[in-house]
Amino acid sequence: MAESSTTDAVEEVQIKAQGELRSADTLEALEQWRVAYLGRGGEMTRVLRGLGSLPPEDRRAVGAAANRAKTALEDGLAARRGELEGAATSAPIDEDRIDVTLPGRPAPRGGLHPTTLVVREICEIFASIGFDVVEGPEVEWGKYNFEMLNIPKDHPARDMHDTFWVDYADENGDRPILLRTHTSPMQARVMEATRPPVRVVVPGKVYRYEATDATHEWQLTQVEGLAVDRGITFADLKGTLYEFARRIFGEERQVRFRCDYFPFVEPGVEMSIDCFQCGGGGCRICSDTGWIEIMGAGMVHPRVLEGVDYDPSVYTGFAFGMGVERIALLKYGIDHIRLFYSNDLRFLRQF
Ligand code: FA5
Repeated sequence: MAESSTTDAVEEVQIKAQGELRSADTLEALEQWRVAYLGRGGEMTRVLRGLGSLPPEDRRAVGAAANRAKTALEDGLAARRGELEGAATSAPIDEDRIDVTLPGRPAPRGGLHPTTLVVREICEIFASIGFDVVEGPEVEWGKYNFEMLNIPKDHPARDMHDTFWVDYADENGDRPILLRTHTSPMQARVMEATRPPVRVVVPGKVYRYEATDATHEWQLTQVEGLAVDRGITFADLKGTLYEFARRIFGEERQVRFRCDYFPFVEPGVEMSIDCFQCGGGGCRICSDTGWIEIMGAGMVHPRVLEGVDYDPSVYTGFAFGMGVERIALLKYGIDHIRLFYSNDLRFLRQF
């Protein structure tokens, strides 16, 4: 080519070079292109070198064309290098750019513990019929856990509450501090702090030093209820708890009240619902009795009212206390209470 340099030959080299320049899409390919056309042995260099062998009359025109072509190729090389280097620097930026049109990645979310779900459901039912929701201390004075609930020292009822004792506030052991064994101490605390009418439910954790099995834990959750006013009767207790049972376990539920003993109520009852598993015929869930006990209840004992300066000849009331995990066991058909507190996500994710 260089040997027979003419303006046509120059143009031919330029067109070929520019075509290849456009398809050089990496910096390495560009460097190969530069060597092939503008390097020492490159085609355009050879055209320029061949000028000397041209007849003098052609040398001027071909030389001018070759110089223009070389400049054009050098400019093209610089521009292409700029493009490729720019692309190399912006590639990571393009990769990192946030595409705001993509759907968001869901953040992993926890869920509410089944005990919490049931506590909320219970409280919502009572709130809808006029009860306030209050909470109280889990580390409690013996006075509230026992004495103010008509459970004096040495009373055999204390045996029902094998207790985690924390400390004594004085040396002769008169002011014990303990983990509350039930939510009932809040009965006295609420009445001390307010005057009738009182309508509260008290959810919270309680602790008992006892052997565990499918329905017994040493830490459990209770919801206490208390209603005190003029003229409250056992019929109010029955009506309220019947409504509660139907709302939480279904409209068709039947309830049964039987005498039971709690020192802070008189009369005292245990409330059961008819077994929704077998419809009353007897099964494993109801231990073949057809009934499932769900809570203790009763009319507030006059001594408890006197202890908080409520006149029992003016005011009467009812109280109840239920175990939340037991309600959840029944509601969700869970067969062991241990599952609530073993932190097994396979269990917890189901709620
Ligand atoms: C009481 O704790 C009374 N304070 C309830 C009460 C309140 C009666 C107001 C009258 C008036 P009891 O010990 O039966 O009663 O416990 C109440 C409920 O807690 C039981 O029905 C049961 O559902 C639940 N419960 C008791 N012990 C355990 C335990 N170890 N594990 C799981 N649930 C329990």
